Amino acid sequence: MRILVTGGCGFIGSAFVHMALDRGAEVVNLDKLTYAGNPANVADVADHPAYTFVHADIADAAAVAGAVAGCDAVVNFAAESHVDRSILEPDGFIRTDVLGTATLLQAAREVGVGRFVQVSTDEVYGSIEAGAFRETDPLRPSSPYSASKAGGDLQVLAWHHTFGLDVVITRGSNTFGPRQYPEKLIPLFVTNALDGLELPVYGDGMQVRDWIYVDDHCSGIWAAMERGSAGEAYNVGGGNERPNIEITRRVLALTGRDESLVRHVVDRPGHDRRYALDTAKLRALGWAPAHDFDEALARTVAWYRERRDWWEPIRSGEYRAYYEAQYGGR
Ligand code: NAD
Ligand code: DAU
Repeated sequence: MRILVTGGCGFIGSAFVHMALDRGAEVVNLDKLTYAGNPANVADVADHPAYTFVHADIADAAAVAGAVAGCDAVVNFAAESHVDRSILEPDGFIRTDVLGTATLLQAAREVGVGRFVQVSTDEVYGSIEAGAFRETDPLRPSSPYSASKAGGDLQVLAWHHTFGLDVVITRGSNTFGPRQYPEKLIPLFVTNALDGLELPVYGDGMQVRDWIYVDDHCSGIWAAMERGSAGEAYNVGGGNERPNIEITRRVLALTGRDESLVRHVVDRPGHDRRYALDTAKLRALGWAPAHDFDEALARTVAWYRERRDWWEPIRSGEYRAYYEAQYGGR
């Protein structure tokens, strides 16, 4: 099986590239190498005989057409993925997450790819006070990021209904693990805590996310790719609902720091209060998360403690400018 993985130099995409090669697939990794794309994430497989890298943008029709030729499946991870950046500068989100997805769909259709997997997010449903979202619930995205991802989902479904392309959509919950760019809650707070810097908790810190370890997210995407029904969406959630302040306290404990590092800052505009997913549909395909939350978090913190060589170079240059724009004077 030959799979075109887009965004395979990012956090979840790179874990999926490793999983796919371990499972005997050939992988073509197409990545634009934005600030979030890091060749170091796949350096260990660069010379693997079943691995090819293509440096390109998913919104570049010619480049995408060349990469998709001969592939049995496409798994689209490529996206602008950070909510806070989408509030600062939404344009790139609409270009990549909507137009880029449509460009990829068109290329997949033209070469007759057997299956197109769109890696989407629980954020397309919006916020939920009680209970859990099912795949049939309406899309009510709140941020420029989640609205762009919802736009991508709708393009994917349109290509299925209109052109008969075989598609599945996965809607994953908040993911954590090694190699996550240190702008998202867990890697930001872990690296700040390791350096003795403040942890900027938005508002009261009582917003709830459902956390999933990266390998469980990838095995869920794999199950949907292999066994999902065409035209269907599948929720991929870890079942680990935690308020942000509890995650913050766990990170402080695991890094040997105390609560004096916590700083409550002005809330994120339009901040979704709670996400929760009903995962019965994916579980019916034989999938279940395999990693215990506390163990996986401790392993993740240990990875960041040992891999300063990975994150220290990132936390300079563009990152510092972003950090100042996001947190300066907040
Ligand atoms: P990431 O930001 O770590 O990586 C994104 C990757 O896509 C990078 O390698 C980047 O270079 C590449 N990319 C961006 N724009 C591109 C373009 N125009 N063309 C080609 N490549 C491009 O993202 P992530 O956290 O690994 O998320 C991967 C996917 O999973 C995204 O689609 C995201 O919406 C989705 N998702 C993420 C989470 C999460 O918690 N991180 C949860 C659910 C769903
Ligand atoms: O739910 C899936 C989504 O999870 C993915 O689709 C996105 O790609 C991914 O970025 C993530 O979005 P969130 O906005 O939930 O993740 P983030 O890590 O940015 O924030 C998690 C929570 O922590 C959220 O309630 C905001 C809060 N937060 C975040 C940061 C960066 C803080 O309190 N302080 C911070 O500095």
